[in-house]
Amino acid sequence: MRIAVIGTGYLGAVHAVGMAAIGHDVVGADIDPAKIASLAGGRAPFFEPGFPEILATTLESGRLRFTTSLADAATGADVVFICVGTPQVPGSDRADMRFVDAVVEEIGIHLGASALVVGKSTVPVGTAARVQARLNTLRAGMPSVEVAWNPEFLREGFAVEDTLRPDRIVVGAATERSIAVLEQLYAPLLQQQIPFIRTDLATAELVKAAANSFLATKISFINAMAEVCETVGADVTTLAYALGHDKRIGSLFLRSGVGFGGGCLGKDIRAFRARGTELGAGPALAFLGEVDEINMRRRRRTVELAAQMLGGSVAGSRITVLGAAFKPNSDDVRDSPALWVARALHEAGAQVTVHDPEAIDNAKAVAPQLHYRADLLAAIDGAELLVHLTEWDDYRRLEPAVVADLVAHTRILDARNALPVEKWLAGGWQVEALGRSLSGGSPESTNWDTTEVESIIEQSEGVQYA
Ligand SMILES: NC(=O)c1ccc[n+]([C@@H]2O[C@H](COP(=O)([O-])OP(=O)(O)OC[C@H]3O[C@@H](n4cnc5c(N)ncnc54)[C@H](O)[C@@H]3O)[C@@H](O)[C@H]2O)c1
Repeated sequence: MRIAVIGTGYLGAVHAVGMAAIGHDVVGADIDPAKIASLAGGRAPFFEPGFPEILATTLESGRLRFTTSLADAATGADVVFICVGTPQVPGSDRADMRFVDAVVEEIGIHLGASALVVGKSTVPVGTAARVQARLNTLRAGMPSVEVAWNPEFLREGFAVEDTLRPDRIVVGAATERSIAVLEQLYAPLLQQQIPFIRTDLATAELVKAAANSFLATKISFINAMAEVCETVGADVTTLAYALGHDKRIGSLFLRSGVGFGGGCLGKDIRAFRARGTELGAGPALAFLGEVDEINMRRRRRTVELAAQMLGGSVAGSRITVLGAAFKPNSDDVRDSPALWVARALHEAGAQVTVHDPEAIDNAKAVAPQLHYRADLLAAIDGAELLVHLTEWDDYRRLEPAVVADLVAHTRILDARNALPVEKWLAGGWQVEALGRSLSGGSPESTNWDTTEVESIIEQSEGVQYA
């Protein structure tokens, strides 16, 4: 089939190569000429494991090309995917629909009579119906085209895998014909027994909002438990471990830490709540405000704990922040808890040096006031406190004894509960972590094997974030 993918960011670029990989002829379009030049030249414009390789093979196959002309992409396409951003409107909780709307205006009259427009962007419920109405108006006197919604659930860091082997494909459509087109499009995936869930437009839109709300709630739930643990001197990692054994609860997304961030969860729960309020369902989604608040409190608590470790104030202290990306295996710094904390420490007068294996360029663009070091050991050199904020493997592999020779003071704050803290404590370090009392008590007070926790962390890598 001939496919157009409009918007080639983290979602669209991976979707475009994924569709070419399963045999379709794909044109990716974006208004960002640098991004298009990079993709057309076989260079990934962002860090995503496995993406450069699949970009190269699909470009070589001749089934994939890129353009800055939306009209060119839409003309002759059987299916046009809308994959543009839906960020938060500044100063409001609502989703900014300008980009989706601009695409509709631009492609409207270029679509062929049998084209199907399929939204993948995460949107407020009712958007698909609104897009359908607008296309009907734009195409007055021309054959009408149908709109379907096919929300995307990929996780950055696992985007290629999730595109080619999703947990499920959800398709909302108004007609059997639209469903049939998407069934044909995804046939190579459906052969792998991937569930194909067909529904109406509004339900499809809501599945995405509900999925992200659930994930955010699970993270904030365990982070609320961390707050309680801090109050009574209990240990949230043991609590989460014990909870996770209950099959009705499960251990995934139950790692307490500095909370969620990135380009999706935060803005999606806010937009969902705002849309619910507009539609008269505000009370049903009011709890998402608390989920958001718990999440933001963890960031503030991290800054507070850093100050406590430094004797009450971070002012004038040299702090090395380990991680800038919102999650490991990504260079995405949108609403990154790591950068939020780094900036707050800087604001409070600390001399902050940030390290990240992949996200330094993006971080510099949004937080130029911070110091950055690409070399991990150089970043650590002379630090009075290390704050672990993004759980890259590089940090888990650090040897406390080696690091001790570099720092000015052996203090580390694990804001992700992902470091082997026993090793750091055994090396004579002062260690603090969110939701635990490591300085007062000792992890020996637990009777479970901490290597087991390490393995749970490994297993839940990447499922911790949307
Ligand atoms: N990133 C994820 O992990 C993820 C996962 C699931 C769903 N989503 C959703 O997918 C959507 C896109 O997210 P993203 O992370 O890829 O965003 P992004 O910012 O990385 O990419 C958006 C792209 O759209 C382009 N664009 C904007 N206006 C355009 C226009 N008029 N025509 C063509 N291109 C245009 C931008 O230049 C940019 O390249 C959002 O709704 C997001 O919530 C993202």
